[in-house]
Amino acid sequence: MNSIIIYGSQYGSTRRYAEKLSELTSIPAVSFKESPHISGQDTIIYMGGLYAGGVLGLSKTLRSISPQEIRRLFIVTVGLSDPSKPETTENVHKSLQKQLSSELFQHAKLFHLRGAMDYGELHLGHRTAMALLYQSLRRMPSEKWTEEDRALMDTYGKQVDFVDFEALEPVIRELNKESI
Ligand SMILES: Cc1cc2nc3c(=O)[nH]c(=O)nc-3n(C[C@H](O)[C@H](O)[C@H](O)COP(=O)(O)O)c2cc1C
Repeated sequence: MNSIIIYGSQYGSTRRYAEKLSELTSIPAVSFKESPHISGQDTIIYMGGLYAGGVLGLSKTLRSISPQEIRRLFIVTVGLSDPSKPETTENVHKSLQKQLSSELFQHAKLFHLRGAMDYGELHLGHRTAMALLYQSLRRMPSEKWTEEDRALMDTYGKQVDFVDFEALEPVIRELNKESI
């Protein structure tokens, strides 16, 4: 059966996860920028970096697909906020609901992984956005910060790498389970 890993990655951490998953499962991985063919795929694993809550490339890639066309849809988000905190998962789910039709959202199996960030590598636009957010959060009592806000404040200006390939295990387990 046909399966594909499609990834949306600006700075490379999601690509690293996608390439590792591809190596471990022998499912080909391709960037969403290459506009891969998704019709006729039995299983789509979409992996995308989180940018202001949105999953990079997700809406563009899935906009023409209906749940009837794909048997299995996996969505794996990669962000700086800690996925072991329930608030992170809740927030990611809320923003996914805005990016997907309710049928696709119900159909998808969701996973959240932790990524990386190097402030030295950010494009000017991203660096400016982060600086503005940092300034506004600094003026706010920390009790009011969301989990994403906290992750931003903890890592601001630094080079951090939370990529952990073992976190792919639940994705692989689910892939194997469903293909039995
Ligand atoms: C402008 C900007 C916005 C971001 N927004 C979020 C966010 O809303 N939630 C989050 O968890 N991480 C956020 N991040 C962190 C990225 O999701 C994280 O660095 C991720 O690993 C990037 O994936 P990539 O390296 O594949 O592009 C943001 C980073 C930047 C530069």
